[in-house]
Amino acid sequence: MDNFKFHGVDTVKMAKKYGTPLYLVSEDEIRSRCEEIKSSFLNKYENTMAVYASKAFLTVDMAKIINSEGLGMDSVSGGEIFTALKSGFPMENLIFHGNNKLEEEIELAIENNIGRIVIDDVNEVKIIDEIAANNKTIQKVLVRVSPGIESDTHKYIQTAQVDSKFGVPLKDEVIDELMENLKGSKNLEFLGFHFHIGSQLLKNDTHLKAIDIIFKLMDDVKTKYGYEMKELNVGGGFGIKYTDEEPEPLSYFIDPMMKAIEENAKKYGMERPKIIIEPGRWMIGEAGMTVYKIGTVKEIPGVRTYVSVDGGMTDNIRPSLYQAKYDALVLNKYKEDKTELVTIAGKCCESGDILIWDLEVPKVERGDYLGVFSTGAYNYSMFSNYNKITRPALVMIKDGKDKVSIRRQTYKELLKGQI
Ligand SMILES: Cc1ncc(COP(=O)(O)O)c(C=O)c1O
Repeated sequence: MDNFKFHGVDTVKMAKKYGTPLYLVSEDEIRSRCEEIKSSFLNKYENTMAVYASKAFLTVDMAKIINSEGLGMDSVSGGEIFTALKSGFPMENLIFHGNNKLEEEIELAIENNIGRIVIDDVNEVKIIDEIAANNKTIQKVLVRVSPGIESDTHKYIQTAQVDSKFGVPLKDEVIDELMENLKGSKNLEFLGFHFHIGSQLLKNDTHLKAIDIIFKLMDDVKTKYGYEMKELNVGGGFGIKYTDEEPEPLSYFIDPMMKAIEENAKKYGMERPKIIIEPGRWMIGEAGMTVYKIGTVKEIPGVRTYVSVDGGMTDNIRPSLYQAKYDALVLNKYKEDKTELVTIAGKCCESGDILIWDLEVPKVERGDYLGVFSTGAYNYSMFSNYNKITRPALVMIKDGKDKVSIRRQTYKELLKGQI
């Protein structure tokens, strides 16, 4: 039978070999994204750095791939730092973010000589300074600011509006307090600012707006406090294709940003700082596919047909969390005419556990296989054990060959840690 192939592998064969639900992740796609980063950014512009936002998808294998491509990585928790450490990731290429870093996480980061810590609040300056002093080290830091921009994306993935839990607000009194704290610190080397506008952005206008705002801030800080910024981290947020989006290549963001940066540097008479980007979703989203087995097919006459799969919000919370849209195919019937409109439901005890509200499919029945596209980012990493459903296996694909990266969780492992 002719089944749908994902990066050279027969998806139904994979489902039968490893069981379902199953995360498939293409290493070839990840590496080709790394190549695009090199050709459009790292090799094209001097004094630049690309850092993969590991929250999108982090496994030991992924950290090794990122390192082998010469990219840095960002982390937002002790667990992510630990995973990077275990993979042998060079700590000088790791950045630590977060709006509420715990003391023990900061200690773990500093003890292991992490490359940068991104300060998220004025009061964090003293905490990080003290821990750096206890470790007799000078810690390199950036400061995340919230430029007060609303990006064109779902509210839950906007991150730079005025009313945001992320970053230092751009209010004079807060910036003054921040700079006083930094001036007073003894064990911090302040390198520059960071912003991250939001996620799944398909337009570059908000990045460009933020650059103008940040340069004005950099100029104020230079005039008032004498700091020359050596680095500027412009975050990630570059969008991908889920359904009918038509994302532009990375250069659509990079080239106008770099132009705006050069122009601003000239305008304010500054040396252009080192520019860092932090793509997460863009690097891994389209590299992933989730394969499910179809179970109950329930028709409510005159209303809709629910086609239930053997996973759902436990392996992909995004549709329930922020109405994210996905596209899918019936893998063993992908060449057949699509004659029905159905709703793809998960198996969790929540009415909101719907993966796709309206999907055109051929006539489906129990035992068919469904493949959901673009599930590489924020799916595995947001996995939960709700309803005591076990984590799917994760298989990496490279050169048409499959290799288990994470095996399926067992029932026994579900109870691990219960005393
Ligand atoms: C600081 C920071 N950098 C990078 C990212 C990655 O965003 P994306 O996956 O949209 O590229 C995020 C996501 O929330 C973030 O908070």
